[in-house]
This record gives sequence, structure tokens and C-alpha cells, in this order.
Amino acid sequence: MADQVVDIAVVPVAGRGTRLLPMTKSQPKEMLPVGRKPVVQYVVEELVRCGIKRFLFITGPGKTAIENHFDLNPELIQMLRETGKEELLRELAFERAAVDYFYTRQRRQLGLGHAVLCAEPMVDGQPFVVALGDSIIGLQAQSDIVARMIAVFETEKADAVIAFETVPREDVIYYGIAEPEKNWDTNGHFFALKGIIEKPSPETAPSCLAVAARYVFSPVIFTHLKHTKPGKGEEIQLTDAIQRLIESGGKVLGMRLPEGERRFDIGNFESYFRAFVEFALADEEYGEGLREYIKHLMR
Ligand code: UTP
Repeated sequence: MADQVVDIAVVPVAGRGTRLLPMTKSQPKEMLPVGRKPVVQYVVEELVRCGIKRFLFITGPGKTAIENHFDLNPELIQMLRETGKEELLRELAFERAAVDYFYTRQRRQLGLGHAVLCAEPMVDGQPFVVALGDSIIGLQAQSDIVARMIAVFETEKADAVIAFETVPREDVIYYGIAEPEKNWDTNGHFFALKGIIEKPSPETAPSCLAVAARYVFSPVIFTHLKHTKPGKGEEIQLTDAIQRLIESGGKVLGMRLPEGERRFDIGNFESYFRAFVEFALADEEYGEGLREYIKHLMR
């Protein structure tokens, strides 16, 4: 099989995470635990399984814990060996994934679109994945949606492929929402986008298909990002740049997360708590006991 062309992922982690204060006062929301691991480790493990070899984190103030997390830590490994805790070494196996990590700073938090634009000098004219560092796809991140998006991107010669999930109509106000063409491809894998709009009102939303934190882009998106003015929340919105790409004749496709696969958004307390409980319940060692405990609490 030919090598996958898209092997670099841009992971924006520079946001302030104000909706999770005070937890995020001095630690990145992308490092919050969900079950046993920090959010961003799930993101990286998902993408490694999808063939990504290079990670470019767009970081900001207070985010050095993320860099530390992906460093090799020989002292810790030696200490575990010397103190007879060899069984814990498997918890550090992720450190040895055969991938490269790069970091650059978003020097002003001007929005997700601006964070992606910071990747341009590093991405250097190649297609790339964008994966939000605060969102896990699928329980225990067991999703291969990005691999399937890359395959469609390559075979369809698309300019962008975006993951979507259906949300309740009252929730469209939180997301980028698709205006899909009516026809799906013959296999029902993907659809073309006529438009995309950031946080519409439930009355005007063109659908209930919400962007699900994963994208594949050709580098042409940078041209559109450079011309995108601040939009909702005075931030440079990635959604607005995608709309410009569509208006300029770009081929933008959407793919729905499959049945049973969800986006776990670690951006607000409600969805963070739900994600933590669900991942903890799925824990091989403690899930069953926790289930009993919760049943006991609910009596
Ligand atoms: P959010 O839209 O959740 O924004 O970011 P936020 O600033 O992190 O959080 P709140 O609204 O203050 O609570 C979605 C993703 O985009 C990144 C975030 O780190 C997160 O992974 N992001 C957002 C940036 O990298 N830079 C930005 O300027 C904004």
C-alpha cells in the first residue's frame, strides 16, 4: 500500500479554557484527566493509530505541562525499575511512540482560526489534520474517523474533509454547523458542503450537523485564514475560513461520526463530568466496582 500522504497533525491547545475555571487557572484543560489519562494523550494515541507521524502543538501561556507530558523521562523509568515497580512501565509506553513532536506558540489568543494559521510555516505546503486538543472521539478514543477522512481526502482530491456529529437543535448555538448538499456519495460515506456557519441560532441553523473537532485540510486553507476577519466572539473563526474556501469553489466534504461514536468535549463542566464518568465506568479494573458504587449512591 502507498504511504499515506497526510501524516502531520496540528493540535491547537492554546485556548484559555475559561469555562473550566478555576481548574484551568494554572493547568491546561487539555491536561485534565478523563479516566486514567489526560485528554491530549487520548488525542495523540487516536491519531497515531490513524497514521500520523508528526505532531505540531499550537501552545500558549501556561501550557508547558503538555510538552513535559510527551517528553521521554529516563529518570522516572529508572526509579520505577529500581523500586520494583516494573509493572507501571507500561503506563509510560506512549512516550516511545515513533512520532515527532513540535511546538509553537500562538502569541495572542485570537481564536481557533488564528491558532491554525500559526502552523503555516511548519506545515510548509502539505495537507494536514487539525485535531482539537480538548476533544476525544469515541469511548477510550477508539476511533479511526481521521484515517477514513484522510482516505476520502486523498481519493476525492478534496480541499477539506470535516467530521460532523448530529446534535440536538437547541445545541447548534455552540458549534460550527454544516449546510450539506442533499446528495451523499453512493456509499453514504460523505457529503459535500454548500456552506458552514459558526454558532447559528436554532431557528436559522441549516442542519443539526455540528463540527466534531477533526479536520483534514489542504494548505489552501491558510490563504483563506489570512483573509478571515474576526467573527463570533471577536475571534478569527476556522469555520469562517472554511466558508470562504467553499465560496471560492473549494471541494469541502463532511463525514459523520459512525453510530456509537461520539465527540467528548472537555470544554465545559457538563460534558467534562459526563466524559469522566463514562470513561471511568469503562475502566477494565475499576469500572465494575464504580458501577456498583454509583448504583448504591442512587438508591
Ligand atoms: P475553545 O473554543 O473551547 O476556546 O477552543 P477556549 O479559549 O479554549 O475555551 P473557553 O471558551 O475560554 O472556555 C477549542 C480548541 O481550540 C484551541 C483550544 O485550546 C481548544 O483546544 N484554541 C482556542 C486555541 O488554540 N487558540 C485560541 O485562540 C482559541
